[in-house]
Amino acid sequence: MKRIFSGVQPTGNLHLGNYLGAIRNWVHLQDDYDCLFCIVDLHAITVWQDPAGLSANTREVTAGLLAAGVDPADNIIFNQSQVSGHAELAWIVNCVARLGWLNRMTQFKEKAGKHKENASVGLYAYPNLMAADILLYKATHVPVGEDQKQHLELARDIAQKFNNDYKTDLLPIPEPLILGAAARVMSLRDGTKKMSKSDPSDQSRINMTDSAEDIARKIRKAKTDPDNLPDSPEGFEGRPEAANLMGVYAALSESSIKDVCAQFGGGQFSGFKQALSDLAVAKLAPIQDEMRRLMADPAHVDGILSDGAEKARAIAEPILKEIQDAAGFLRA
Ligand code: AMP
Ligand code: TRP
Repeated sequence: MKRIFSGVQPTGNLHLGNYLGAIRNWVHLQDDYDCLFCIVDLHAITVWQDPAGLSANTREVTAGLLAAGVDPADNIIFNQSQVSGHAELAWIVNCVARLGWLNRMTQFKEKAGKHKENASVGLYAYPNLMAADILLYKATHVPVGEDQKQHLELARDIAQKFNNDYKTDLLPIPEPLILGAAARVMSLRDGTKKMSKSDPSDQSRINMTDSAEDIARKIRKAKTDPDNLPDSPEGFEGRPEAANLMGVYAALSESSIKDVCAQFGGGQFSGFKQALSDLAVAKLAPIQDEMRRLMADPAHVDGILSDGAEKARAIAEPILKEIQDAAGFLRA
């Protein structure tokens, strides 16, 4: 059986990168797979989160998934902390993964920055918790953006080592699914940096809750270069901003980057930016309206998360028992 697990952190605003790199793909995958989509609040607290903000963001991200078209009747949507198996399996994973493996994780190096000594132990062990998320459900496929590829390779190594160490074939080796023209949406201020919730400049990203005016202004002010647009993707060499904006256009219009180059190549950025901003507003507005409607009814959103958690626990509990048995833990 094919089973998908994917996660998104409830830290700050959902942005266009999350939508194009992750959530929109989830909407497409829900018909073909048995899917679990998790709001990973345990991952979020690897860096300090204000408690009220964490609750609000958990609801906002849930509303974003629902508004984008993830159907809670056919899929499992829940927040990670409601299923205790994630934390329990993470401990076992901590004892399987090697320090040397974690030392290679580039996201930790980026997030911890110069003050490594001051980063939380949780931030360092973050990829182990992510592996536990996936293995707890024996997920076979994991859709993520490019930035999570290394963590997924680690999850594969952990599954393999667990199977080897305990002489079992209990854990399937999860496959990454990296999809679409916008697997990596870049910052509007710097085409070499990914669009991120943690970028201090709000101008660098399009938030799912931005108004039409904000979207238009951010695109108008987005960094560009002085040349006309390239008429083929080969022309992106040394032009990360052109590549990013045209990639976003392709993703939003569900066409290929080649077609977008054919359509706008030779033209100026100004006309293209107008077309991009019209397209972004048209595609995002209905999702934003629905998000606002859902966020006005927190009890409804919380109900979806607790129903999802109940369904998730029903899958996780027997798998966790199998893993604990393999490790030799006694239970009554
Ligand atoms: P995060 O916001 O880090 O929890 O990421 C949630 C999901 O969005 C993951 O699948 C990421 O790979 C994806 N994602 C985050 N930022 C970007 C981006 N700039 N471009 C494409 N995908 C992204
Ligand atoms: N680390 C992922 C991110 O920041 C979120 C995540 C947590 C995840 N657990 C996961 C993604 C399991 C896929 C599968 O984007």
